[in-house]
Amino acid sequence: MVKHNEISLSAVSKDIKRAQCDALVVGVGQSANGPVLLANPLSAKAAEALSDSLGLLGVTGAVDEVRRLPGLPELNTNVLVLTGVGKVSSATDLAAETLRRAAGSAVRQLSGISSVAIALPAPTVAQAAAVAEGAALGSYAYTEHRRADPAAGAPVGTVVVFTPVAEDKSLRPALDRAALLGKAVNATRTLVNQPPSHLYPESFADAARELAKGLPVKVTVLDEKRLEKDGYGGILGVGKGSSRPPRLVKVEYAPARAKLKLAFVGKGITFDSGGLSLKPATGMTTMKCDMAGAAVILNALLAVAQLGLPVKLTAWLCLAENMPSATASRPSDVLTMYGGRTVEVLNTDAEGRLVMADGLAAASEEQPDAILDVATLTGAQMIALGNRVSAVMGDEGVSAAVKAAADRAGELFWPMPLPEELRASLDSQVADLANIGEKFGGMMTAGVFLKEFVGKGKDGEQIPWAHLDIAGPAFNEGSPYGYTPKQGTGVAVRTLVAYVEDVVARAS
Ligand code: BES
Ligand code: MN
Ligand code: ZN
Repeated sequence: MVKHNEISLSAVSKDIKRAQCDALVVGVGQSANGPVLLANPLSAKAAEALSDSLGLLGVTGAVDEVRRLPGLPELNTNVLVLTGVGKVSSATDLAAETLRRAAGSAVRQLSGISSVAIALPAPTVAQAAAVAEGAALGSYAYTEHRRADPAAGAPVGTVVVFTPVAEDKSLRPALDRAALLGKAVNATRTLVNQPPSHLYPESFADAARELAKGLPVKVTVLDEKRLEKDGYGGILGVGKGSSRPPRLVKVEYAPARAKLKLAFVGKGITFDSGGLSLKPATGMTTMKCDMAGAAVILNALLAVAQLGLPVKLTAWLCLAENMPSATASRPSDVLTMYGGRTVEVLNTDAEGRLVMADGLAAASEEQPDAILDVATLTGAQMIALGNRVSAVMGDEGVSAAVKAAADRAGELFWPMPLPEELRASLDSQVADLANIGEKFGGMMTAGVFLKEFVGKGKDGEQIPWAHLDIAGPAFNEGSPYGYTPKQGTGVAVRTLVAYVEDVVARAS
């Protein structure tokens, strides 16, 4: 169900003809004096001729501008492609994310062409890896439920990176990591893109087992009977309006030489209708994306396992479908959450925090060194930060580490506070807590609710924790851009993997 052709990545350093690709991509930047052709493998004569004609061709070098020209006889390629990198001050030293986006945009817009050589300026291993990663992220299409569109063509399958460090020993692992990240992000996108007719808690659990096959991880699925027996009142309370029962999926990676223990918790609402507090029709059309958090943590864990990082990691996928029916939770119902605390459900559309509360409480029992949770939790996230910037809140130390990892990964995250005074707004007349509180800054209110369910560590202090709200960035309702397609984006996968890498590096 979540099958993908993995992209094939390699590198050449000198003779670009050896790449033997259908298309060769070179970069164009925007300078104060107009478009400039960036460092490339063309002969001096060809490069000069092309440079001189950029203006007349109408090429500007703007981000996402991808233009096809006839290939040059000297290049052994049918098509020459110009990809814009945007404003440049230096023609050689491009930031990693600039390279990812330029390579990703080109590969995305070249689908239908099977092999592509990319000759963006990439004099270091990190830069060559960024080009490869962008290409892997740009090579994606979701076509499971429609007839093949001959005009669209299949995603690019082979990419050769032109770089002077092609023979460097550290390049191969960097390319492998790029392909692995591409696979993890693309699998996340596909899970998010699955229609809720096809993806529901049980089939999501099956997909998790399928994706984990052959990897050194253990997948345990708690069905509704087991959830009942163990007291997962949040997940059950949200799921009970649906004909498709909820699940809690626990995925464990526990290598022998692990130095520390981390936990991920993900929101997996396979469809959020709002429940009896029904959403308006327009607010419901994108709600298949409400399981993005669970898809992210699953694929990030699988990537960590494939990278063989020496860390114990458990992912808790909190899966339910939020539907209105005669069996659905009513506004004012009281649920007994995992661990025994009670919550009054005043709005059944604030369901994410209910399933996440169970997941956070369960994750805490195992006393990890840190917990990260990922959720499309609030519309307020989009009001605060828009469609492209995700929020991170919680412990200051963990939040700062997540922000640093996101910066390195090239994902936009911004730290937000969890003001203590918001806690009182969640007081209930009848239960320990209500599931809605202060409306203004509602993203932080939801974060404060989640914090209540993060347990204490052996030292008696709350376990270090951060909450990532990806409500807007998880799903692209607009046009594709850079390496980001329409619909599921896979955002946060790369940040989580980078975070685990950083934690491991710091511990050793
Ligand atoms: N899944 C939504 C949040 C969401 C909205 C994600 C838009 C992606 C795009 C969440 O379950 C929800 O409905 N939240 C409510 C909370 C409110 C009732 C306190 C919201 O944000 O309106
Ligand atoms: Mn909701
Ligand atoms: Zn939701």
